[in-house]
Amino acid sequence: MKKIAVLTSGGDSPGMNACVRAVVKTALANSIEVLGVEDGFQGMIEGRARVLAYQDVNNIIQLGGTILGTARSEKFRTKEGRSKAIGHLKNWSVDGLIVIGGDGSFTGAQILSEEMNLPVIGIPGTIDNDIYGTDHTIGYDTAMNTVVEAIDKIRDTASSHHRIFFVEVMGRDAGFIALNSGIASGADDVLVPEEWTDLDALVANIKKSTKGSRSSIIVVAEGDDAGGAKAVLDKVAPYLQGFDMRYSVLGHIQRGGSPSVFDRILATRMGYQAVLSLKSGEKGLMIGLKGDEVCKNPLISILKKHAKPSEEMLEMLHVLQTR
Ligand code: F6P
Repeated sequence: MKKIAVLTSGGDSPGMNACVRAVVKTALANSIEVLGVEDGFQGMIEGRARVLAYQDVNNIIQLGGTILGTARSEKFRTKEGRSKAIGHLKNWSVDGLIVIGGDGSFTGAQILSEEMNLPVIGIPGTIDNDIYGTDHTIGYDTAMNTVVEAIDKIRDTASSHHRIFFVEVMGRDAGFIALNSGIASGADDVLVPEEWTDLDALVANIKKSTKGSRSSIIVVAEGDDAGGAKAVLDKVAPYLQGFDMRYSVLGHIQRGGSPSVFDRILATRMGYQAVLSLKSGEKGLMIGLKGDEVCKNPLISILKKHAKPSEEMLEMLHVLQTR
């Protein structure tokens, strides 16, 4: 193993830079050169990559976003796009590839490794935490802290104005952010895509929970079956006349910002292990974290399964929300 490439792909997440830093420092310590591919698979198709030296990754552990850039590449889904990418990988003479991203990125990585027989290691980087085979993805902890800070602020207005707030958080297919930030912020209701939303019960809960305080926080995952925060508000409004209601979509503030301590350490451990894994001849794996132990699972098995919030957490939420 003389030269490897690293890229970040899909939605950026806080801690991606800490991971790139760990990859570069671990590789250089093992006399392996690192090429940083720009803008994920899109940059690979276009042949854009640069050598990453030690000083290129100094002072980036605290930065959100990704210094490599990222993209969701439609072209990489095509055979033509991939054959261009493969051509560049061959020209660059890399012996292995590390892909930091979500499940869409891992699908691309798996296809690439099959089509050109290149050793690939995946590292889960997404705020959604929706990757099977790991308890935590890089960026999830920071995003939850951002959400909780925002909800604490919204609560000030909610209680001062006696309002009902529907707060929409990210999570296209998964309710991890909604569930755990809802628990941590003491939300009165949390709507997640993993459970069918009973709007009648929600209306009844709002009426009950606002009896004394007349304010309420309802966290809505963007992918909930009843819709986002605005859609849910519109649906329940006719049954809650006289209530002062607002919605707030937190949006991309959840993806940015300096990574939390947890995400910096997680990203560093994963980047370090990914390089060691390639060096020892492993391939087609995703680095994960189970409990406090780093683990490895075949990428192919990760792609076939869906990560779901634990039953215990959902059950606890229901109990805490009983009026
Ligand atoms: O996958 C991360 C995520 O932030 C999702 O929660 C969200 O649905 C999506 O990305 C938004 O993507 P984009 O920034 O491309 O609109």
